[in-house]
Amino acid sequence: MNDGKRICLTGFMGVGKSSVGRHLAQILKADRIDLDFFIEKNEKRKIAAIIDNDGVEAYRAIESANLKRLLDQTTAQVVSLGGGTWVDDDNRALIKSKGLTSIWLESTFEHCWYNIKFSHKDRPLARDKVKALELFEERKKIYCLADWHFIIKAEYSSYDIAKLIHDEYFL
Ligand code: S3P
Repeated sequence: MNDGKRICLTGFMGVGKSSVGRHLAQILKADRIDLDFFIEKNEKRKIAAIIDNDGVEAYRAIESANLKRLLDQTTAQVVSLGGGTWVDDDNRALIKSKGLTSIWLESTFEHCWYNIKFSHKDRPLARDKVKALELFEERKKIYCLADWHFIIKAEYSSYDIAKLIHDEYFL
């Protein structure tokens, strides 16, 4: 039963946080929000432009401020985070304090990389495969701090994953 539980989706770039979030919200008939989209709307700039012009550190501060704003403003049940949001201690504490359950979508690097390559989204931190792989390995130990963990197989569609989360967590 969907009794107002709120979740946020975390995981590496290209794992499908946005599309799984979209399907899950449709299944739940609930509101969802995508942090990357929220940031670009508020900042009136593309994330890639913020990172390229201001640097990653400045972007992280903007991301944290927008996460706070998003969680203060909306009651959306499904929140898709950016791939780096969960890495920050304060962001994780904030998410917990707002009562959201965190869900890590885990997949192989090759699966994420395949999606990154075929996506139109410009991801400054995934322009170089070797650096992206390093980031992927580094972040595993932090993603695994999430409350729930779903392993994404390459043959699953975003809908399949959303349905799995729904059946395991929301039913
Ligand atoms: C980032 C992931 C991106 C975006 C930004 C930084 C990261 O979001 O927030 O480019 O540090 O992993 P997606 O995971 O939705 O691509």
